[in-house]
Amino acid sequence: MIGDIKDCAMLNNGLKIPWLGFGVFKISDGQEVEQAVKYALEAGYRSIDTAAAYRNERGVGKAIQESGIPREDVFLTTKLWNEDQRNKRTLKAFEESLERLGTEYVDLYLIHWPVKGFYQETWKAMEEIYQSGRAKSIGVSNFLVHHLEDILPDSQVVPAVNQIEFHPFLIQPKLLKFCQEHQIQVEAWSPLMQGQIITEPNVQKLAEKYHKTPAQITLRWDLQHEVVTIPKSTRSSRIAENAQIFDFELSQEDMNALDALDQGKRIGPDPDNFNF
Ligand SMILES: NC(=O)c1ccc[n+]([C@@H]2O[C@H](COP(=O)([O-])OP(=O)(O)OC[C@H]3O[C@@H](n4cnc5c(N)ncnc54)[C@H](OP(=O)(O)O)[C@@H]3O)[C@@H](O)[C@H]2O)c1
Repeated sequence: MIGDIKDCAMLNNGLKIPWLGFGVFKISDGQEVEQAVKYALEAGYRSIDTAAAYRNERGVGKAIQESGIPREDVFLTTKLWNEDQRNKRTLKAFEESLERLGTEYVDLYLIHWPVKGFYQETWKAMEEIYQSGRAKSIGVSNFLVHHLEDILPDSQVVPAVNQIEFHPFLIQPKLLKFCQEHQIQVEAWSPLMQGQIITEPNVQKLAEKYHKTPAQITLRWDLQHEVVTIPKSTRSSRIAENAQIFDFELSQEDMNALDALDQGKRIGPDPDNFNF
């Protein structure tokens, strides 16, 4: 059982990623993100997920440095933005992210979206970054099975992670199975459906049963699916609440009940049809 906030998944290159991380999408750079990351680190999170596109890498880096926690004890993820793929500036964009984060390496560097016509070539540049040692692992985000099939045959490095939209309304079982079979760790973005899951009656019922909150039920469901999860909040009470998911276990029957909510419903863009 995953029973401690320090517990980690093992990536396909032997690197460990905490099962629980902290997402910072839509948190402003400067004081807001610095405060949020500070709350998360104080609550025991040791993994932070940002992206060049979130425009808050500086604040994330500053908060980690000022926390006094050794850099090697924090798992830091950032992502390559689409425009940088189109302009073939992956290596340059990576350098710029490192500079903004104020660090010499990241633990995980992801291709943010599979930009049609570009992502295969981008993966080669990602491999170069990996070989340089400045990204301890590399992966992808929003890749469907056919995107993965496009890059795997020619790759020297199998993506360590695929970060995808994942919550009880969107499970994508075939994609999950494909990733598991290829030792690609699945990581859930918008695990709380950007807050919408909280009012789902079946989730609320389970919350009452386990004396937990709807958010905790949903995040625990991620862990029991062996999916790394990265909820976001700016409020210290919710940041702490979302980390209290290691002291209970959902029964198989209740896991199945949550699985039955799957409707293939996205709250974010479709990776086969996005225009940014
Ligand atoms: N790779 C990608 O394309 C991609 C796309 C989207 C997101 N992500 C990553 O995934 C992370 C998480 O996804 P997300 O930020 O979209 O959504 P999320 O984590 O599913 O939900 C965040 C929303 O839920 C609210 N919330 C958080 N904890 C709560 C709780 N315990 N009870 C009630 N409401 C709660 C937050 O409000 P407050 O802040 O007001 O508490 C916020 O509005 C992002 O921050 C980002 O790092 C990646």
